[in-house]
Amino acid sequence: MMRADAPAKVNLALGVVGRRPDGYHALVSLFARLDLADRLTVERVPGDADRLVVAGPIDYRPGPDDLILRAAAVARDALAPGAPALAFRLEKRIPLAAGLGGGSADAAAALDLVARAWGVEIGDAQRLELASRLGSDVPFLVSGAVTALVTGRGEYVRPLPGPSDPVGLLLVTVGSELATRDVFAAQAELQDGPDAPRRAAASLAAPAALPASERAEALADRLAAGWTAAELCQQAAVLRDANDLWAPAVRLRPDLGVVRDALETRLGRPVLLSGSGPTLFALYPSRTAAESGAEAIRDQPVGGVAAEAVRVAAIPAAR
Ligand code: C5P
Repeated sequence: MMRADAPAKVNLALGVVGRRPDGYHALVSLFARLDLADRLTVERVPGDADRLVVAGPIDYRPGPDDLILRAAAVARDALAPGAPALAFRLEKRIPLAAGLGGGSADAAAALDLVARAWGVEIGDAQRLELASRLGSDVPFLVSGAVTALVTGRGEYVRPLPGPSDPVGLLLVTVGSELATRDVFAAQAELQDGPDAPRRAAASLAAPAALPASERAEALADRLAAGWTAAELCQQAAVLRDANDLWAPAVRLRPDLGVVRDALETRLGRPVLLSGSGPTLFALYPSRTAAESGAEAIRDQPVGGVAAEAVRVAAIPAAR
């Protein structure tokens, strides 16, 4: 039996820079990998259908569009037609449709595991190509980078070094699942809908600060030379307003704004949105410091957030 961890991600910054002819959006985003991970095992089994069983703290019922089974199917087609059936077991720990890349993490881990289970080589270019077919977050997650500047639809990954010491994160997932597709659709509506000219005029009258994409690029350039957890924490206020999916996410989920305000008051630090949400997070100079923040919220809940929606994780230190 082979096993792999499937780590989650957060977006430290996410700029939407245009819509592509294929309907996806062009992004400039700074990604970071977390030590919060699903666990996946695989073994070869008789028969001709791949299968998946799920356990773990998160209740996940896989459907036919499950990304692990899709990863096995696209990899079999591309690398090993007729290769033996596989039985996967997933321990689900990353909350679903939360902006943490949980499904994509599983797909990335599955690509690696199926190649090992079948004993086939998978080259870097082919891994990246299969990854982008499975989802926009998957190329970063197969890259193995701790942080990276990700562009295109998600398929261009410029790896950056990890921190010299782990960055603590306090994660708060607000409410139930939120589909990325819906948040991008709301973003397009905000850009092109009937209100768009009025908003454009307002932003010309009061020019916004640096766009999110430029903040992501500026921070990537700083991280490229090596960085500490404390240095990233100093950037938290800049990153707080560097996610272009914040406005559409709040439009769909007004409680995100309420909870963010309450968290910032309680924690005394900026609170960011990961990806399309609904996970909010604060950055800390260590995991222990993030634990203290989590305890404060679990003891005296903020904005109706349930204790199980509060998690502590870390961006691992560079090896
Ligand atoms: O690629 P993935 O399947 O993760 O994307 C989910 C949805 O998010 C897509 O169907 C699309 O609507 C939207 N999306 C986008 N532009 C991206 C990534 C995702 O519009 N770069």
